[in-house]
This record gives sequence, structure tokens and C-alpha cells, in this order.
Amino acid sequence: MRKPIIGGNWKMNRGSPAEASEMLKQLIPLVKDIQSVDIVISPPFTALYAVKEILESTNIKLGAQNMYFEEKGAYTGEISPTFLKAIGCEYVILGHSERRNIFKETDALINKKLKKALSMDLSPIVCIGEHLEEREAGKTKEIIQTQMDRTFKEITREEMIRTVIAYEPIWAIGTGKTATPEQAEEIHAFIRELLTQRYDKETTDSVRIQYGGSIKPNNAEELFRQGNIDGGLVGGASLQVDSLFAIIKAADKTRL
Ligand code: 13P
Repeated sequence: MRKPIIGGNWKMNRGSPAEASEMLKQLIPLVKDIQSVDIVISPPFTALYAVKEILESTNIKLGAQNMYFEEKGAYTGEISPTFLKAIGCEYVILGHSERRNIFKETDALINKKLKKALSMDLSPIVCIGEHLEEREAGKTKEIIQTQMDRTFKEITREEMIRTVIAYEPIWAIGTGKTATPEQAEEIHAFIRELLTQRYDKETTDSVRIQYGGSIKPNNAEELFRQGNIDGGLVGGASLQVDSLFAIIKAADKTRL
């Protein structure tokens, strides 16, 4: 059975070491006995080091929100995967829709980052998802298929199994408009069909696919109960201890 994974994507919030640590000090004792869910916190780069120290010997893992595909050189403002490894990051979010839309990251660039992350033994969380107009035009599956084909180009079966996919419909991010469990499940099942076409059933059954987009304590459990949804990538609700803990508990409950 796939282990659900709850990611807290703090985006450009809680970037100071003090405020990041403060929240995690409260969360750590609450989740310390939770074994059936992987918990990953992705703070801004400026808080990574402090957070790593706080998370030492806990069951919460550290993730970054982005990285570049080169290890060093003249790339002003970029972050090397080597630096992330040195600090103790295990996960890295790649291709978030905010990176794609605001910073114009393409599938081809994300594919390069993905290959690099895998080669450095970082666990990638790769985001895909459609815009509202695309959904309304009935193009969701077409968009997802294109993103999958391009973003996962030349990714081997073994690499795919080490990769987490986050299906984040863009219209649901930060809007309070969550996809219904049925809408999310339909696309998660479709993503698995695409994985089976490309690899095989065994690979498909091993890949974790998170849902992301306005996950809150009151909708989390129903989403996580869907057979193809393996936890969630949480933005806004991951900034408060109470709501993040409630969402982690909802994932845990689905495995009891
Ligand atoms: P919200 O949970 O704030 O909608 O953000 C989702 C997201 O983008 C997680 O990566």
C-alpha cells in the first residue's frame, strides 16, 4: 500500500528562521507518533537551515520549494541541489504552477531539474495541473497528458517510483475552491492510466500522487479516502499548526 504524504508548502511565507522554528516546535510533539504518513515541510530557502536543526530526530522531513539543474556556477539568484543536500533536504518541489505561471518555467526546464534532483538522490515532488479555462473547455486530460509527457520525458521506471506527483488544479490553488473528491479522483486515476501506458502496472501502483488546492481540515479526509489520492500538498492551511495537524490526522485516519 502506498504511504500518504502530506507536504506543507509555505511558499513565500514564514521565511524567518525564528517564525519557522516557532511553528514547528508546536507541531513536532503533536505528530511524533504518526507512522503511517510521510510529513514534509518546505519553508523558504532562508529558513531551511534553522528548520533542519529543529527537525533533527523527528518524523518530519525537510523539503525545498525549488532548485536549479546545475550544481554551481554563474547563476545569480539560483539554488544548487548540492546546497540543498548539504543542508539536509530530502525533498524538493518542482514545477509548481506558481513557478510555471509567474516565473515562466517550462516543462522542458522542469524535466532538467527533475533529472538532476533524481541524480542527486533528492525526492522530487512534481506539480502538474490545468487552468480554469482549460477545464471549462474540456481539455483537462489533454493538458495533463502533455505535461506528463514533457515533464517526465526520459524518466526511467525506477526514477518514476522515486518521484511524487502533485496534481494541483490551478483554479483550486489559494482560491478556497477545492476540487470535489470525484473531480480529483478522476484525474488521479487518469494519471495512473498514463503511467501504466508508459511503464507498467507495478510502477503505477508504486507512484504516490498527492492532491493540492485549497485542502482544509474540513475537506481533507474525503479527498484522502479516494483510492488514487495519496495525501496532499497544502499551501495556506499548512501555515497554522492546528489546521496542518488536522490535515495530517485526516491522512493518518484513512490508513487506520
Ligand atoms: P493552497 O492550499 O493555499 O490552495 O495552495 C496549494 C498549493 O499550491 C500547494 O502547493
